[in-house]
Amino acid sequence: MPTRRVLKMGDPLLYRKAAPVENFNTPELDSLIADMFATMVEQNGAGLAAPQIGVSQRVVIFGVESNPRYPEVEPVPTTVLINPQLEPIGEEMEDGWEGCLSVPGLRGLVSRYKNLRYTGFDQQGKPIDRTVSGFHARVVQHEVDHLDGILFPMRLRDIRLLGFEEALFPDL
Ligand code: NI
Repeated sequence: MPTRRVLKMGDPLLYRKAAPVENFNTPELDSLIADMFATMVEQNGAGLAAPQIGVSQRVVIFGVESNPRYPEVEPVPTTVLINPQLEPIGEEMEDGWEGCLSVPGLRGLVSRYKNLRYTGFDQQGKPIDRTVSGFHARVVQHEVDHLDGILFPMRLRDIRLLGFEEALFPDL
């Protein structure tokens, strides 16, 4: 499972609407997902969408382990989510700092739905149906945005809410 090059903001492939997956449980899908995990782990990402490695299909992966050094970050189960549908629960929004492997070195304060139901399929075609909130909901919204050609800087209310990591978080 080779790692793949992650496309960076400005590459036209990142701004396309990705196509739904039609066939599950195939060697092609398995190898795409294996490459995505290898790439995400190598780059310490919390999630990755197939368009970020140049594959215009509706496939995202994500997952964050619990880390005792960062108790404020809620763990998110390792998930393969295909052909996702999002359904916000309520109208409550929450601001949070986001980064992206396609926007290296930058962070932005983005408003997302706090509570969310998401459905879709895993790589075997088994249905997924979860109701989540907070950081988990944020990660899913960020990744699914990639499938519609949206990068987090396009969600900023104010360009001043975008900055370099070392300037925003000098203690990290
Ligand atoms: Ni991203």
